[in-house]
Amino acid sequence: MKDIEFTVMLYGKDQFKYSVTRNNIELPAKFIKYHKTNFQKYFKIKESDFKGKEILETGCGQGKHAVVLSLMGANVTAVDLSIDNVQRGEKLKKFYNLSNLSFIQHDLMKPLDCKNKFDLISSHNWIQHTENPSTVLKNLVSNFKKKGGGRLYISTYHANTFRFFITQIARIMLKSEYYELMYNLVKFHFPTGFKEFKNPEDIYFENIFDDFFVPYCHTTTYDIVINDAKKLGLVPITEIPDLKQLYSLDNIFLRIGLEKKEYKDSTKGRFKFTKPVDEFAANLPSFINESIKLSKKTIKHLNKLDNAYINCSFCLGLYRIRAQTCMMDNPKEKHQILQQYLEMTLSNSTKSISAYYDIQQNYMNREESNSFYE
Ligand SMILES: C[S@@+](CC[C@H](N)C(=O)[O-])C[C@H]1O[C@@H](n2cnc3c(N)ncnc32)[C@H](O)[C@@H]1O
Repeated sequence: MKDIEFTVMLYGKDQFKYSVTRNNIELPAKFIKYHKTNFQKYFKIKESDFKGKEILETGCGQGKHAVVLSLMGANVTAVDLSIDNVQRGEKLKKFYNLSNLSFIQHDLMKPLDCKNKFDLISSHNWIQHTENPSTVLKNLVSNFKKKGGGRLYISTYHANTFRFFITQIARIMLKSEYYELMYNLVKFHFPTGFKEFKNPEDIYFENIFDDFFVPYCHTTTYDIVINDAKKLGLVPITEIPDLKQLYSLDNIFLRIGLEKKEYKDSTKGRFKFTKPVDEFAANLPSFINESIKLSKKTIKHLNKLDNAYINCSFCLGLYRIRAQTCMMDNPKEKHQILQQYLEMTLSNSTKSISAYYDIQQNYMNREESNSFYE
């Protein structure tokens, strides 16, 4: 399966399969309030000024953020790669009876030839999953109105947190053809689901596939995004956080508002948001260097075994460590737990590997339960 087809399958068919297709599709009031505030913060305009603005909402998924922008009175064009998501968006539009919202199916790795031009462009949590986020940014910026002053909001994955440390290990171990096996094995590794981790925003079933299987997962930093924005004639209009000791966090989103100041030829300049940040290459404290050393050894060891069940099991063990430590703020403790797990794996006595035989048995004898994670 080509990368783009895998992305369509993951985000169109699987990730959002239950959300908007349920009877009650109304967005929670908390969600609407949160995103209204978030859009005001990063576009740096007040709620009443959204009225009549032409907005392009990109990688729109099921259309939830597009609906919030429309409810604020903007004229919204929402774009997504997946036709299933466009159809989900149409359902939401109908539910909210919105005439100021339209959906387009389009691959934004290619220029969008849209007769509308836009005052504001929103990109919420998706460009990291494209083959080349800087190409997408170039394509988005070409859709601003000519007169200048257009604003771009980007939310994406920040590198150098614990989430992407374990994700990097998992992404080296997993192949796209393990996807179905993993989908089924999750039920054995997390038989009661994910509620016990009490962090439903960050730790949930789909997140495993979002991080471990999506063909591209380009984490980045503020420096990289600002560099690329500058090459496109954009400058930051929101505060850049002073991020220290990122590795003590489980996860943080990079969020920024940018304004178009001048025309720049986008074929020129060296763009950097083109590959993920290497989590093993950063200048890190020694306890993380120890995790890097052990991770590399473990990857080599498991690669030699070349067994899909073992690799999937091992990676689900990594996800469990993240889930269980996501509320801890002592990075040393997190990494100690990870290191124990890696050492056990290297000595072939890890729970994930010893459990593998049972899991394989269970998997073979399993009863299909489609409603388990709905
Ligand atoms: C993680 S989801 C985020 C959806 C939505 N923005 C949200 O935050 O709920 C990623 C979305 O990006 C879309 N997408 C991925 N690659 C794309 C591309 N090249 N062009 C347009 N949309 C794309 C996917 O179909 C999916 O709906």
